Amino acid sequence: MTLRIAPSLLAADFGRFAEAAIACQQGEAEYLHFDVMDGRFVPPITYGSQLVDALRPRASTFFDVHLMIIEPERQIENFAEAGADGITVHAEACLHLHRTLGEIKRQGKRCGCAINPATSLSAVEYVLPMLDLLLIMTVNPGYGGQSFIQAMLAKVEAARELIDRNGYSVEIEVDGGIDNETAPLAAAAGAEILVAGTHIFRHPEGISAAIRGLKSSIASVDPSLGLRCSGSATD
Ligand code: DX5
Ligand code: ZN
Repeated sequence: MTLRIAPSLLAADFGRFAEAAIACQQGEAEYLHFDVMDGRFVPPITYGSQLVDALRPRASTFFDVHLMIIEPERQIENFAEAGADGITVHAEACLHLHRTLGEIKRQGKRCGCAINPATSLSAVEYVLPMLDLLLIMTVNPGYGGQSFIQAMLAKVEAARELIDRNGYSVEIEVDGGIDNETAPLAAAAGAEILVAGTHIFRHPEGISAAIRGLKSSIASVDPSLGLRCSGSATD
């Protein structure tokens, strides 16, 4: 299992997205997470495919687009053309989830499905064979800086077990309240991609130190990360 860090731009300075994207890449974050909100599925409005398009030439990091919008099927092509590498839609926002996920695959992008804390795993069990990524929300979507909901660890464990038992190649991502305390819990439960906003962008020692710290915190779960972290920490 390879653990990866996905800094969420939601916690970055909105006037300096390009610098944030570059700093995350230099800090060896494997993913860059875009929280797209429409003021309908969740209360705030953030940014759209134009931001993906604007940052695409600045970073070669995997662009991980998390659509917290209603009728996401109307936006998939826009985000694909803008340069998203992976597109994740919420199960709760899709009237025809299977069809919408099929559209992401037709666009040749990594296909992700997110579930809110209130949504049980059984709602997405039938689409697991077609997914590349299952995003288990560990806070209620809409805002950064919320506390990790501990009860989601059992959902991550159940998802891991279900995916492994059936031999599906679905990566599990967790999003919300990730820091040095919760990252190892989520990783031990079976998450492979950890989204973190506040912890990374508000870290007193800066973005690189925050990413390094998160990787160190999960090194017990993925020893290869620990080696890489201790190497870069002493460089
Ligand atoms: C919440 C977003 C998250 C959020 C995470 O709706 O999907 O990606 O930015 O932020 P932190 O790490 O601050 O909980
Ligand atoms: Zn997110």
